Amino acid sequence: GKTANQMLVIFGASGDLTARKLVPSLYNLYKANQLPENFVVLGVSRSNLTDGEFRKKVVLESSYLENKVKGDAEEVITTFADKFFYEDLGDDYSKEYSKLATRISDLNSKYETGENYIFYLSTPPSLYEVIAKNLSEQHLNNEKNGWKRIIVEKPFGYSLKTAKNLNAGLQKYFKETQIYRIDHYLGKETVQNLLVTRFSNSIFEPLWNRNYIHHVEITNAERGGVEKRGGYYDKSGALRDMFQNHLLQIVSLIVMEPPIDASALEIRNEKVKALKSLRIMRDEETLFKNTVRGQYLASVIDGEKVKGYREEEGVDPNSKTETYAAIKFYVDNWRWKDVPFYVRTAKRMPTKVTEVVIHFKSPHHQVFKNSNLKNKDNQLIIRIQPDEGILIKFGVKVPGQGFKVDRANLDFYYSSLAKNNVMEAYERLLLDAMQGDATLYARADEVEAAWEFVDPILNYWENGPDVNIYGYSAGVWGPTNSDDLLEGNLRWRNPGE
Ligand code: BG6
Repeated sequence: GKTANQMLVIFGASGDLTARKLVPSLYNLYKANQLPENFVVLGVSRSNLTDGEFRKKVVLESSYLENKVKGDAEEVITTFADKFFYEDLGDDYSKEYSKLATRISDLNSKYETGENYIFYLSTPPSLYEVIAKNLSEQHLNNEKNGWKRIIVEKPFGYSLKTAKNLNAGLQKYFKETQIYRIDHYLGKETVQNLLVTRFSNSIFEPLWNRNYIHHVEITNAERGGVEKRGGYYDKSGALRDMFQNHLLQIVSLIVMEPPIDASALEIRNEKVKALKSLRIMRDEETLFKNTVRGQYLASVIDGEKVKGYREEEGVDPNSKTETYAAIKFYVDNWRWKDVPFYVRTAKRMPTKVTEVVIHFKSPHHQVFKNSNLKNKDNQLIIRIQPDEGILIKFGVKVPGQGFKVDRANLDFYYSSLAKNNVMEAYERLLLDAMQGDATLYARADEVEAAWEFVDPILNYWENGPDVNIYGYSAGVWGPTNSDDLLEGNLRWRNPGE
C-alpha cells in the first residue's frame, strides 16, 4: 500500500528503544524505499539535546546502526539523518506541550507532512494518559485535517485493573481506532504464518480440533538472563513480561476459529473470542496443580560463571519474581474441549527457541505393536525462532524384515525462500501503523481478555498459601517440578536435547 506523508513523534526518544529498534527499522524502510516522500521524525524527551546531537546519538554515531549503514554512501546516511529533529519536553512530561505543538506545526508546514501524525509512546505506561491528555489539549488528536495515531509499548498494564485503567485513560482522548498497542511477536513473520498454515491449507485445519489433537505445547526459551533490566523485570516476572502478551497472542492464533476474512476487524474479533474461551483458574487447588514458577540460580555455562537471578543488578536479594513460568490450561469451546495446553516461558534456558508443537493422537488401532518409539505421536512443530520453519514428524518403516516403525522428519526452513528478504518485527509493525493497518496490533478487549486469564494466577502466586518458587540452575530446562505438570508419560519437548 501507499504510505502517506507523515510525521513520527517519539516520546521517550532518548531511551534505548529508539536507537535499538525504531531507528534501525526506519533505516531499513528508508533503504527499501518504503518511507513516504515527506517524512519527519521528531524525538521528544526530557534530555536537553539539539537536533544535531539527537541525530548523532540515534543515527550517525549509533552502535545499533553501525552494521546497517556499513558500505552505504555518506550521502545516503546523512539524507536519512536529516529527517530527525528533537524537542525537549521539560522534566516531567506534563508541561510545555504548547511549545511542542508549535514545533510540530512548524515542521509540518516546512516539510508538508499533511498533518498526519503518529505519536509513539516509548515511555513508562504511567505517562500514557498524561501525554494523551496533553496532546488532546493541543488538539493533536483531532483528525479534521490529517489522521492522528498513537502507538503504545508494553507493559500494557500490571494487572487486569491497571490495564483497564490504561485503556480507559487513552480512550478518553483517542478513539480505539487511533490506538495501536504494539506486541512485537505479532510482527514476527512466523507468528503471522500461523494463520496461513491453518487457514490456507486443507491438510491441517480438518485435524485442528479435539478429535485429532492430543495436546498443544508451546515453549519460549531464552538463553540470556535479565541482562541490564533487573529493575524492570523484578517488578514484572515471566508471566507479565512474556506470557500475558506474546505467548497468549500465539495461543490465540492457534485457538481461534477461521475469520470471515483477513481484515483487522474480523481477525481480532476471532482472537478475542479465543482468549475469552480460555478456562480461567480460580480455586487454589486448580492453580496449585496447573502452574509452576521458578527462578534461576547461579551456575557455570560453557566454563563461564553466571549469576543467579537474586544476585542480578536491580533485583531484590529476596525476590520471589519468577524467571520461569509453566502453565497448563484448557480451552472451553466446541473445538478444544479437554485438550490440554502446556505453555512455558523462561530465561536462562540451554538455548533460545520459541516453538509450537501440535501433538496428534495416536491412531485408534495400533497395527504395528512392537515399535519401541518414545514419541509415537505425529507432531507438527512450528518453529517461531530461530531456524524459522515447520517440521512434521511422521512414522516410517525401518528398512528390513518385519514392520518396525521409526520417526522421520519433513522439514521446511523459511530461509529456503531466501529471495524474500524477511522484514524485522518492528519494521513491519511500524510500516503497518504508518499505513493505518491495525491487524497486527492488540485491541483493548484482547488485552483485557488476556489479563482476565492471567490475573488469578498472579494473585495466587503473590498471595496464595505456600506457593513455591523452585530454583533451577541457569542453563537447564527449568525446575524438575515442571514435569509434574504434564499428564501421564508426557515429557516436554526440549529442542536440541
Ligand atoms: C520482550 C521482553 O518483550 O521480549 C524481554 O520484555 C524478552 O524480556 C523479549 O527478552 C524476547 O523477545 P524475542 O523477540 O527476542 O523473543
